[in-house]
Amino acid sequence: MAGIDTLSAALGNSLEGKRILVRSDLNVPLDGTRITDDGRIRASLPTIEELARRGAVVVVAAHLGRPKGAVDPAYSLAAVAERLAELLGRKVAFAADTVGPAATAAVTAAAPGDVVLLENVRFNPGETSKDEAERAAFARELAALADGFVSDGFGVVHRKQASVYDVARLLPSAMGNLVGSEVDVLRRLTIDPERPYAVVLGGSKVSDKLGVIDNLLDKADCLLIGGGMVFTFLAARGHEVGKSLLEADQLDTCRAYLARAEASGVQILLPTDIVVDTAFPSGDRTPEPRVVPADQIPADSLGLDIGPESAAAFAAALGEARTVFWNGPMGVFETEEFAGGTRAVAEALTRAPGLSVVGGGDSAAAVRQLGFDEAAFGHISTGGGASLEYLEGKELPGITVLEES
Ligand code: 3PG
Repeated sequence: MAGIDTLSAALGNSLEGKRILVRSDLNVPLDGTRITDDGRIRASLPTIEELARRGAVVVVAAHLGRPKGAVDPAYSLAAVAERLAELLGRKVAFAADTVGPAATAAVTAAAPGDVVLLENVRFNPGETSKDEAERAAFARELAALADGFVSDGFGVVHRKQASVYDVARLLPSAMGNLVGSEVDVLRRLTIDPERPYAVVLGGSKVSDKLGVIDNLLDKADCLLIGGGMVFTFLAARGHEVGKSLLEADQLDTCRAYLARAEASGVQILLPTDIVVDTAFPSGDRTPEPRVVPADQIPADSLGLDIGPESAAAFAAALGEARTVFWNGPMGVFETEEFAGGTRAVAEALTRAPGLSVVGGGDSAAAVRQLGFDEAAFGHISTGGGASLEYLEGKELPGITVLEES
């Protein structure tokens, strides 16, 4: 698929002085204006640096959070602009609007090699509109700022949004380095993965993972399940789960998955012990963790992590796998008392002999927050929803549009 070289060829064999709009995913977690995990900004650097090195005027478009199509200072990219400048080691001109006078002025004033960051694209109703014409109109305004487009926000390629999809139809377009490397790795998980292929799924809701379970039941050898979603599986096996998270409307689906796995010889590994407490962790109360068998969760308690016996069993299964994909923490890892399962899985991935891939979102944040060396993993994706949708076999509009252009 066309990369930056092809784009350069399309623009007269040089990017020098060309205005290149780059869609990055700079959607980082913030505590007020403090960035708590800058992984996505770091992952976006290689493409921005390459374009700047090649003399382009680099115009970065990105979103933060989910503002409702109107300016909301809580979702300003100002703090991200500062961090981006620090990491690039160069000035970043921050435009206080996306396609208005500030953006136009910043792009006009920029010299070859300069970097401009536009304010949150989602401050504009056209960005996420379901109305094709409204989206296209906003995309035209974005396209007017540039001579070419580079799609590098892997975390949003599953979104049919103006700065991801529509703008690529208006400008000579290419895939950025981050999207290229993410797609390469995910392809290795779907086309002929080395076996055994183990998939670890966690996170709170089973309903978010139905598509991926459905698709992977035909592809993986072993499915390890933890996190809040496991209680619906345990209940489907007939166990009491106390006050644990339970999606009663998914019980039949989980039963069907368990039966399908058994019939097709796919191993589904559920925890045999659980760390429980009588309340969800909060600042007001010291946690009182207890380990109980997975089929004996007390009525007054809720499960907050997989237990040590399960963590060891999961680690052992992962130690034998040649391909591992992990999405979703095993417990409430933000609280030390309930981080053991997530830590054990992360550790097992660092020792995995073959390809180990950490899906984005919470699992990527967990790896960094628990202090692991990112280089110890085969690949840490920047896209939670995007990598799941890829593995579900869904079409990703932000990728398809590049294949068409
Ligand atoms: C993410 O955080 O997964 C991406 O930045 C996409 O954000 P969205 O789910 O709000 O589209």
